[in-house]
Amino acid sequence: MGPTSRATKVRLRRRGVDHGDFALAPAGSTPFEAQPIRWDADEPIVLRGIASAGVRQHARAIERALALFEAVRGGASFEAIAARRLARAPFRPAGVTIDLGDTREIEKLFVDALSSAGRAVARDLYAKLSWIAYDERDASLRIRFSFGAEALLDWQKETRRARWSDAFARALFPECRVIDENRDLLDTLERLLGRRIRLSERIIYSNAPGGGATFHHDDEPRQLGVAYTQLEGATAWFALPKRRLAEHVAAGARTAALRRRAGTARKALRALDETSDPLLGKLLNSTPAFSRRLAQAGELYVLRAGDSILLPSHGPDDVCWHAVFALGRRPSLAHSYGVFPLRERPLSATRARGSDRTSARSRDAR
Ligand SMILES: [Fe+2]
Repeated sequence: MGPTSRATKVRLRRRGVDHGDFALAPAGSTPFEAQPIRWDADEPIVLRGIASAGVRQHARAIERALALFEAVRGGASFEAIAARRLARAPFRPAGVTIDLGDTREIEKLFVDALSSAGRAVARDLYAKLSWIAYDERDASLRIRFSFGAEALLDWQKETRRARWSDAFARALFPECRVIDENRDLLDTLERLLGRRIRLSERIIYSNAPGGGATFHHDDEPRQLGVAYTQLEGATAWFALPKRRLAEHVAAGARTAALRRRAGTARKALRALDETSDPLLGKLLNSTPAFSRRLAQAGELYVLRAGDSILLPSHGPDDVCWHAVFALGRRPSLAHSYGVFPLRERPLSATRARGSDRTSARSRDAR
């Protein structure tokens, strides 16, 4: 895929903060030869137009997904819409819950997967519809597909139901096939990882104007990375290895209080484990000068329909951090899948210990 011929200009606005206008030089896909080095270095890999044919082929399903998000934004019942869409699919409704402890959550819809004989073969698969932000200025929505008890981390402990959860996502959002049947994308991931993979813990996103995700990472035990594909509209991304983000934070920290906490790259690396810190959060997410610094350093990417971005994850400090800004005047559509080994190896003690330094990640933020 060759570079596009003209420069792109984007305006980044999120949750009431105007970060300004940014001009991007014409950018093509990450060159094939550079991809393995970048993956190993936790750098994002951009694949321009890798899903364009699938986007055209599944245009009807993409429209229906956008319509679903529009309807639930207007207050329609996700459960009712899902029931209609699943009428002929082998999934049986198994209840709806609403987490009163999380004001972002709208509806969590459970189903059981059925065999051809009508027997339940995988229980408690769920689709959780939530607002992305607590901020009312951000009308971005997401639907996460997983299974079992979230609080008990069932999705990490058991993998049998993962493929049923993936199938449930495909039944409700048939445009999953844009990714599932995309041999180029799957081959790229399998070549980079040197193993067969599955794409699970699926999230369907509809980012709304003025919205998006603040800086976070998606490092999880067993998850090797994330593959995000834009199916409609566009998003802008800051994406870079945590260690380089820490260098930017150290250089961009202006106040004495933040310099004490994050004034060196080493301190900033640890400070990034607590992005709930208001001073650090403000620098990362609401400081136009910091966004300019990142853009000037080449950390800004724009994704359009048919483009994918791959975000490598090798551990708590060796992972691609990212922040997303919705572009355009209408809510967009994207699918973000966790990359997992097709066959699991035992979780090593080291990796399990590493996971207690993941407080900064927001499993639901990506
Ligand atoms: Fe993410």
